Amino acid sequence: MCGIVGYTGEKECEDILINSLRKLEYRGYDSAGIAVFENGKIKTVKAKGKINDGLVKKLDEEGSLKGVTGIGHTRWATHGEPSDINSHPIGNGRVSIVHNGIIENYRKIKNFLIGKGYVFESETDTESVAKLLDYYYKGDPTEAISKAVTDIEGAYALGIIFIDHPDMIYAVRKDSPLIVGIGENEMYIASDMTALLEYTKHYYLLETGEIASISKTGATFCDIHGNEIKKEIQTATWDISEAEKGGFEHFMLKEIHEQPSAIHKTISPRIKDGMPCFDECGLTDDMLRNYKHIFIIACGSAMHAGMVGKYLIELLARTPVIVDIASEFRYRNPLLSDKDLVVIISQSGETADTKAALELANEVGADTLAFVNVVGSSIAREAKMVMFTYAGPEISVASTKAYMVQNALMYLLAFRVAFARNMIDEQECRRLVSVLETMPDKVGECLEDLDPYRKAASKLVSADSLLYIGRGLDYALSMEGSLKLKEISYIHSESYAAGELKHGTISLIHEGMPVIAVTTQSGLLSKTVSNMREVRSRGAYVIAVCAEGIQIDSDSADFTITIPASEDMFMPLIAVVPLQLIAYYSSVLRGNDVDKPRNLAKSVTVE
Ligand code: M6R
Repeated sequence: MCGIVGYTGEKECEDILINSLRKLEYRGYDSAGIAVFENGKIKTVKAKGKINDGLVKKLDEEGSLKGVTGIGHTRWATHGEPSDINSHPIGNGRVSIVHNGIIENYRKIKNFLIGKGYVFESETDTESVAKLLDYYYKGDPTEAISKAVTDIEGAYALGIIFIDHPDMIYAVRKDSPLIVGIGENEMYIASDMTALLEYTKHYYLLETGEIASISKTGATFCDIHGNEIKKEIQTATWDISEAEKGGFEHFMLKEIHEQPSAIHKTISPRIKDGMPCFDECGLTDDMLRNYKHIFIIACGSAMHAGMVGKYLIELLARTPVIVDIASEFRYRNPLLSDKDLVVIISQSGETADTKAALELANEVGADTLAFVNVVGSSIAREAKMVMFTYAGPEISVASTKAYMVQNALMYLLAFRVAFARNMIDEQECRRLVSVLETMPDKVGECLEDLDPYRKAASKLVSADSLLYIGRGLDYALSMEGSLKLKEISYIHSESYAAGELKHGTISLIHEGMPVIAVTTQSGLLSKTVSNMREVRSRGAYVIAVCAEGIQIDSDSADFTITIPASEDMFMPLIAVVPLQLIAYYSSVLRGNDVDKPRNLAKSVTVE
């Protein structure tokens, strides 16, 4: 999704703005631009395409912008195609803005302003806000902002500059995130902290409805009625090295390799005296005993972590769990009450549908528990209880280490629910925890030799379509494997419960079609192997992912990847690694932009 940056200080800001925008590239975008005060005038350069191919090239051709205050933007098109004119900053010589989010009533505002004589140039919803600010601006920026945000509906984060205030940046937000970075005689704005880690770790979190007035010496905050707001300084725990490739060819590969330490960092503070502990968020055994239903709501990979959670909680605690895609849950009038627990999973903590689902659950009075990776994100702040996943910044659009640690927390939750509900005793609970603690090493072992994954990828890279099959937890994992492959290799794939193939999908099998069979569940092995034989005898090229000690014969698979063994229940944490790496190498072999796949955004902050 779009990225916002801004700088005011004593240094020439063009390089700072572009450097910060580069740090936001991972969010996904299709055009970029900056606006800088140059000799008291707002000068804008913006272009369709990637920062280097578009914006930087244009700046080279037209001459760089000289000034110490400016705003910048990477745009992920929603209203109007990617083009120079639709890129941000948008405005005129008096007011210029960068915008993240969607203005729902922009047509109404546009018609009103056309009636006042304004002429529109772009197809964007953003232009209606820029012109509305210009309409209300009579010399007092916060007054203009207050009036404008009273009129607009939707989600937005806005960075704004006004012609009469060449050493100031203004910002306001509703639902979409924005932070104000604090430096020495310089201040920043950004959509997220990764843009600023090179310059500062200190920042203010702008809340919905707050207006920030930012000069090089600091920021003041007020609400839309002009009442002053005091804010606390936050300090980021992430390090700049975590947001850099560190010698790896791609962020995705680096993040896959960070999984052992991410699991360790996420689970170890939550294990007290050998038992899973949720005290930090206030979730007690009493509460866990009394919930009528447990819902797990999320999108994409986070929802797949929820699927693993469902299998685990149902298996261990014998408690039914409803997993739902956030965009479905929020509109289906779910059977939810104040006696239920709703677990919300999100890496970014800003996913629009997941956030809306959380708000719905809060309104109904359910207990909400969020597993979130980004401290200070909207979901982290709005959930009644929050447990952070300590994956560190995840830059690659394809989620790997964040998914891994969402799962790791799910294991701890499943153990605790089972213990609280007397389905396992303390001894068994401790034993399960100790097995979980071996997972960083097991995942590490999978990363010792990457050759089998590269070979498997080479077998499927020219296919048009393939299937992932599995049963039980292997099926839950297949969903993630299939999504990963689709999103970065652009090869169509589907995940299928292996036993369901015969009910229609097996007719798709043709000579040479790759089928990836996840066969880590020993209790279901013979069943899955029969399904592998069925597809193989119809021409499929079967790639099996199985645990050490399991023999897959040559009638069942053409290529086998063997991973370290553990108890069945723990295998998803290990088996996801080959699936991630098969997707990774397929993308590399196809020459794709692995970390920034086409059409995708890292953080989906619009519906
Ligand atoms: O930030 P979130 O965890 O809420 O994001 C949810 C999905 O958009 C995300 O997992 C997406 O599916 C990934 N690109 C998958 O790799």
